[in-house]
Amino acid sequence: MSFLNRIIRGYNAKHYSLKKFSGSELEVDKWMISDFILRKIIPIVGVHPYPLSELELLVSTLIWYQPSHVCDWGTHLGKATRVFYETAKAFNLKIHLISIDLLEDVEHAEHPHEKRGRLVRHLPEVKLMLGDGVTTSINFLKKQKTANIRPMFFLDGDHSYKSVKREIGIIGRTYPRAAIIVHDTFYQSPDSKYNIGPHRAIAEYIAKHRQYKLIQTNFGLPGMTVLLPKYEK
Ligand SMILES: C[S@@+](CC[C@H](N)C(=O)[O-])C[C@H]1O[C@@H](n2cnc3c(N)ncnc32)[C@H](O)[C@@H]1O
Repeated sequence: MSFLNRIIRGYNAKHYSLKKFSGSELEVDKWMISDFILRKIIPIVGVHPYPLSELELLVSTLIWYQPSHVCDWGTHLGKATRVFYETAKAFNLKIHLISIDLLEDVEHAEHPHEKRGRLVRHLPEVKLMLGDGVTTSINFLKKQKTANIRPMFFLDGDHSYKSVKREIGIIGRTYPRAAIIVHDTFYQSPDSKYNIGPHRAIAEYIAKHRQYKLIQTNFGLPGMTVLLPKYEK
């Protein structure tokens, strides 16, 4: 085995462990997370649609919040779901992964059809479901017998103001202590003509529901925001 191969094998066998930090803020070992993303995540999902900073936020929130269940929509190719799966595996977290996309006959510009879940459909640990994301996931979680449900939601379906507002509202009413991650939340001035619907939906929601703090990647598209209940953990 060549010297280079030995190094690569060593890296691939690398074990990632959770570091505990005292304090209430979302804090992770960013060096370890960066190493993990470069070695284990980028080779599988690349940097599209989630650039490095967003991959960091997805991974960090998962390992810090340690949910019992992650419900994400829409599945599309399953990139986000695969990020959650690889992270849970590498950091030895027992998390139920549920990913939802629209029914086959629903019209949507980004409907994946036969490509749905391509990156995760072979993984028995991932439950793929069809339907409206928020309705399907809440119905699924309500049927679970587990006493301590601690869900985390990842919203990446229809990025309109109306949809995100509805989805956050339903989650907030049903699971007020859940962490919520929303994609496509970058704010630009109106002359940019960007879709600022998700940003607006979040801003309005947290103005009325003060139990959340926001963690955001804020320096370009597409943008990602975590709504994290204060005092959680
Ligand atoms: C931008 S893609 C998501 C990318 C995906 N998260 C990934 O990691 O590859 C948007 C997806 O959301 C789906 N979608 C749109 N509205 C939805 C809804 N209400 N419920 C579930 N899925 C939805 C679309 O069919 C499409 O597959």
